[in-house]
Amino acid sequence: MAKKVLVIGQGGREHALAWKLSQSPQVSQVFCAPGNAGTELVARNVPISETDIQGLVQFAKKENIDLTVPGPEVSLVAGVVDAFQKAGLVIFGPSQAAAQLEGSKAFAKEVMRSAKVPTADYETFDNLKTAEQYIFERCGGGRFASSQRPLEVTDGGGELVRKTNPAWEQSVVLKADGLAAGKGVRVCHSAPEALAFARECFAEQKFGIAGQRVLIEECLIGQEASILALVDGKTIIPLEASQDHKAAYDDDQGPNTGGMGAYSPTPVINDEMMAQITQTILIPTVHEMKRKGCRFSGVLYAGLMLTRQGPKVLEFNVRFGDPETQPVLMRLKSDLYSLLHAAATGHLNEVPDLEWDPRPAVCVVMASQGYPGDYQKGHPIRGLEAENDLPDTYVFHAGTSRDGTNVVNSGGRVLGVTALGDNLDLAKLAAYERVRKIRWEGAWCRKDISDKARNYTTPTPE
Ligand code: AMP
Ligand code: GLY
Repeated sequence: MAKKVLVIGQGGREHALAWKLSQSPQVSQVFCAPGNAGTELVARNVPISETDIQGLVQFAKKENIDLTVPGPEVSLVAGVVDAFQKAGLVIFGPSQAAAQLEGSKAFAKEVMRSAKVPTADYETFDNLKTAEQYIFERCGGGRFASSQRPLEVTDGGGELVRKTNPAWEQSVVLKADGLAAGKGVRVCHSAPEALAFARECFAEQKFGIAGQRVLIEECLIGQEASILALVDGKTIIPLEASQDHKAAYDDDQGPNTGGMGAYSPTPVINDEMMAQITQTILIPTVHEMKRKGCRFSGVLYAGLMLTRQGPKVLEFNVRFGDPETQPVLMRLKSDLYSLLHAAATGHLNEVPDLEWDPRPAVCVVMASQGYPGDYQKGHPIRGLEAENDLPDTYVFHAGTSRDGTNVVNSGGRVLGVTALGDNLDLAKLAAYERVRKIRWEGAWCRKDISDKARNYTTPTPE
C-alpha cells in the first residue's frame, strides 16, 4: 500500500500511464519526469529529462520510488533499466541490450531470422554505393527515366523488347537502422524515390548515425495491427489488440507520423489470429532473446502487417505504443500497478486473467499545424475545461505545456482525445464530439480514425 510510482516521459502515452497508475488502490503518489500540462492533473511533474539517467536514478532513490515506468524508447536505449537495477530500484522495461530490438532494425531482423518469425524479406546496406546498386538491380538493371518511368527498351533492329519493367511498379521500403522518431521509414513507390531516400540517409546524413546503415525490404500488403504484450523474461501476457493510423491524412494519405489515432479492440485480430501471433511471433521472439543472452522484459510491441500469407512483423518496439496505449488503457479494468510490478519482478505467471471493458475505445490525435513537418508552438488551447467533458471520454495531453494560466501546444502531436462507446461508431462519435470543443490556432486531426474497422473484410488466405 501507499506505493510511489515514477513515469518517465512527456507524451500522450505517459499521460495515459500516469492516469491509469494513479487509479490503482495501491498507489499513493505518481511522479512524471518531465511530464506535460496533462500529467500534472494526475501526477507531480519533476523537471528531469527522460535521458538524464543519473538524475532519474537519484530522484527515485531520494523519493523511495517503488516502481518506475519508462515511456519512450530513448530512455530504454540509453540504459535506464540497467542503471536503475544497478541502484537496486524496481523498473519496468528491457535492458539496454534487449532494447536493441527497437534500437536497431538490423538486430531485430537477425533475431527474427534466427527465431523464424515471419517478416518482410530484406537486405542490409552500410554504404550508398551498394544500396544504389541493389535498387538498380531490383529494377532489372534498367536506366532511370526522368519521368520516373522506365525507358522503353528496344533491340538492335528497333523492335520493342520491353515497354515497362514490372519490377519498377513494385514498391520497396527503406528503413534507417537506428532510432529516428518514426521518420526513418519510407515506403517507396518508385526507384528514384528509393534512391533519394538512400541518399538522404548516407550522403545527407539526415538521420545522423541512425541512417548510416539502411535496410531495404519487401513491401507487404494488408491491414496493420499493434500487439502490445507484457513480458517478464518468460511469461507473456498480450494486451487487447489495437490499430494505429500512421499516415498523416485521411485514407492513409501523406507522410508517416508517430500515429494520428488508434482504436481497440480491432476486428482485424480475432482470437484465432491472436493465438497464431502468440505462437509464431511473440513466443519465438522472447525465446530467441533469452538464447542470445538478452532476456526480454517490459512491453514487446509487435507492429504487424496481416498479409494473405499470415501475420508478419513490420517492426518491434520495446515500449507501449503511442497513441495505442490511450485506448487500450481506457479499456483495461485490471490494476496496472500490480501488472507492471509483477512484470518488473518476474512474477507475471501469478497475475490473474486481465479484465477488460468490452466497449471499444477510439483515440483521435489533434496535431499542430505543419506536423509532421515544422510547426509553430505556444498557441493557447481552449476547450480543455472539465465542463466540456463528456461521460467516458478523456483528453490525454501529448505536446502541451503550461504558460502562465494557459495550456499551450508545445509538440507536433498535442492531444489524444479518447472515448469509450457501446459500439465503435458511438465511440468514434463521442471522441469527435469532444474534439469539436477544443480549439487552438492551426489545430487539425484525421477525420477517419477507426473507419478501417468498418471497411474490413477478412483476407482470403493464399
Ligand atoms: P515501422 O516504423 O517499421 O513500423 O514503419 C512505419 C510504417 O511504415 C509502418 O507502420 C507501415 O505503415 C510502413 N511499413 C514499414 N515496413 C513496411 C513493409 N515492409 N511493407 C509495407 N509497409 C511498411
Ligand atoms: N504508434 C506507433 C508507435 O508507438 O511506435
